[in-house]
Amino acid sequence: MAKHTVVTMPGDGIGQTVLAESLRVLDAVGFDAQYVHADIGWDFWVNEGNPLPDRTIDLLREHKLGLFGAITSKPKVQAKKELKPELQDKGYEYFSPIVNMRQLFSLDICIRPCRSFPGNPLNFVRQKAGGGLDEPKVDAVIFRQNTEGLYCGIEWTNPPQVVRDAISTHPKHKAFAEIPNEEIAISMRLFTRNACRRIVRAAFEYAQKHNYGSVTICEKPNVLRETSGMMEEVGREVQREFSGIELWSTNIDAQMMWMTKSPEDYGVIVAGNMFGDIISDAYAGLVGGLGFACSGNIGDDVAVFEPTHGSAPKYQKLEPSIVNPIAMVLSAAMMLDHVGEIDAATRIRNGVAAVVEEGEVRTYDMQRLPGGPKVIEQGAASTTQLTDAIIAALG
Ligand code: NAI
Ligand code: MG
Repeated sequence: MAKHTVVTMPGDGIGQTVLAESLRVLDAVGFDAQYVHADIGWDFWVNEGNPLPDRTIDLLREHKLGLFGAITSKPKVQAKKELKPELQDKGYEYFSPIVNMRQLFSLDICIRPCRSFPGNPLNFVRQKAGGGLDEPKVDAVIFRQNTEGLYCGIEWTNPPQVVRDAISTHPKHKAFAEIPNEEIAISMRLFTRNACRRIVRAAFEYAQKHNYGSVTICEKPNVLRETSGMMEEVGREVQREFSGIELWSTNIDAQMMWMTKSPEDYGVIVAGNMFGDIISDAYAGLVGGLGFACSGNIGDDVAVFEPTHGSAPKYQKLEPSIVNPIAMVLSAAMMLDHVGEIDAATRIRNGVAAVVEEGEVRTYDMQRLPGGPKVIEQGAASTTQLTDAIIAALG
């Protein structure tokens, strides 16, 4: 009997490719696990009207640990058109299966580490005042509230009258009072104090455990007084339990500016769902882009690890595959940390670091080549070759 059981959800496009590669790396570090495949993604929407079938939910409920590749999502109208004929006009509504999974299992803590690997040609560099280039070490870990905020899923176009009536009680509604319902779209940004506390506390605990001197709450409390205001208030309350760690506060817009000037100034950053999504992509861009961006979605009971990139449909059919497996491999290493296999996780990260630094085996993105079928003849490594190099460097 294996020590761990992992539910593998490859999903669509390159999700299938990179997930398989990460399993080779997990095997190579001797991770004692059995893998149970679970269906998720576009085909299941088209053929069953549900991109996150109940059987997948059951497997996650049973085994509590998942690795996820990526899925393809499409806008509402197109999603409906692609449903198979028998399912058309039966009232099926597409909802992102990964967002749904996060909400169903209360995977409310999303961790997105963005650390530069020395020698990565995609690292952020800036001009020094006196000439020459400066390459600061980026070491930011974004804690994104993962289940509510602007992604809580409560939204309407042509809102029902009761919703209209409810918001008409707010003084600011006057400006919209004369606009017909069908001319209005509403997406709600809903924060709860408990969820704010959980994400802020998770960030402080992480900062304490990994010796970061500060936690930055990145919101917009001067405008979003209620929701961002609640996150800030909770921040001040939680900080009292962590006297050695400073609480910093930034506005999302200013933060985007500061991080592109001095990314090394920030360590642990906490934000609501939307701002956390934005700031983690931006930080990922400073350490190599989507090919390096790993994440964990963590709840009390269940945890799912995934690269933050999507299914990159334009590359899914290329043979050999050209995409960078590192984001997925680093996500698998985060899973190892989560289950306490710290040595194996460290070996994987060291292996990735060695391959990046050595610079012999690099996928197209690391060579700044435009993606496409020609990149292999232009000297880019294939997905498999990069994984092989990581495995060889595991030590
Ligand atoms: P994407 O992340 O799939 O691709 C954006 C670009 O990033 C691609 O053109 C590719 O050049 C590059 N890229 C992505 N992963 C890479 C990798 N591992 N190595 C090298 N380059 C990589 O995002 P896009 O194109 O906006 O969306 C494609 C589909 O993916 C859409 O249907 C979208 O809804 C879905 N998506 C799914 C996500 C998920 O499953 N968590 C997240 C983001 C998008
Ligand atoms: Mg994103």
